[in-house]
Amino acid sequence: MDIYAHRGSSGTHPENTLAAFREAAHLPIAGVEFDIHLTKDGELVVIHDESIHRTSNGSGFVKDLTLAELKTYDFGSWFAPNFQDERIPTLQEVLECFSNTHHRLNIELKSDIFPYDGMIEKVVDIIEAMQLHRRVILSSFDHSAIQKVKQLAPHLETAALVMEVLVKPLDYMRTIPTDALHLFFPTALRPAIQEVLAENIAVRTFTVNEELYALALKNIGVQAIFTDYPEKMLTFLHAKS
Ligand code: G3P
Ligand code: MG
Repeated sequence: MDIYAHRGSSGTHPENTLAAFREAAHLPIAGVEFDIHLTKDGELVVIHDESIHRTSNGSGFVKDLTLAELKTYDFGSWFAPNFQDERIPTLQEVLECFSNTHHRLNIELKSDIFPYDGMIEKVVDIIEAMQLHRRVILSSFDHSAIQKVKQLAPHLETAALVMEVLVKPLDYMRTIPTDALHLFFPTALRPAIQEVLAENIAVRTFTVNEELYALALKNIGVQAIFTDYPEKMLTFLHAKS
């Protein structure tokens, strides 16, 4: 079973910062996951929340701030004082972190609250410009965004993010359509997901920080887990194999 560093190595470093991504980039894991939003001046930035107050010393919505304004804030001290120099990274900066590695790059489109017009086109353009089309997975809770990615760039792998138990997951996947499912991990253990696993379709699960759950997911054939503690999970799963 593969390991993806969730928001970088976010259990040991401030989430979605270059420090967290550099840590993930040196680990022999399958991939990394991170979240993107669009700034007031149309730049793609990597941050989980719509607003910056939880993970910085600033406040306000990303959509109402320019990249230059966002870059003035400290995105590390909330986690630990020695990360005070961390700034919000752009999508390009994060992708460059992995330019010489093998990692899969799961870009989560956070358009489920604010629509971020033009975000998908910009993401596709940067992926093509950096020739990363074979390494990316575009996921979202906003399944209309996934639908649009498939229309615009059908060769890119997509995943629908789901929190709930689905009744007919294969039917729903075909409706969007999408290539993979990224599930809140307890729902992956429910019987309905067996029909997806039986088809060898990629099911990846978030956010798995406890070893016992990682093992249960491995045993049912889940392809990957997203974890805040990639190094710890690597050691654990290696010992179990
Ligand atoms: O992509 C997996 C996971 O990151 C989805 O939830 O809220 O952590 O972005 P969230
Ligand atoms: Mg995410």
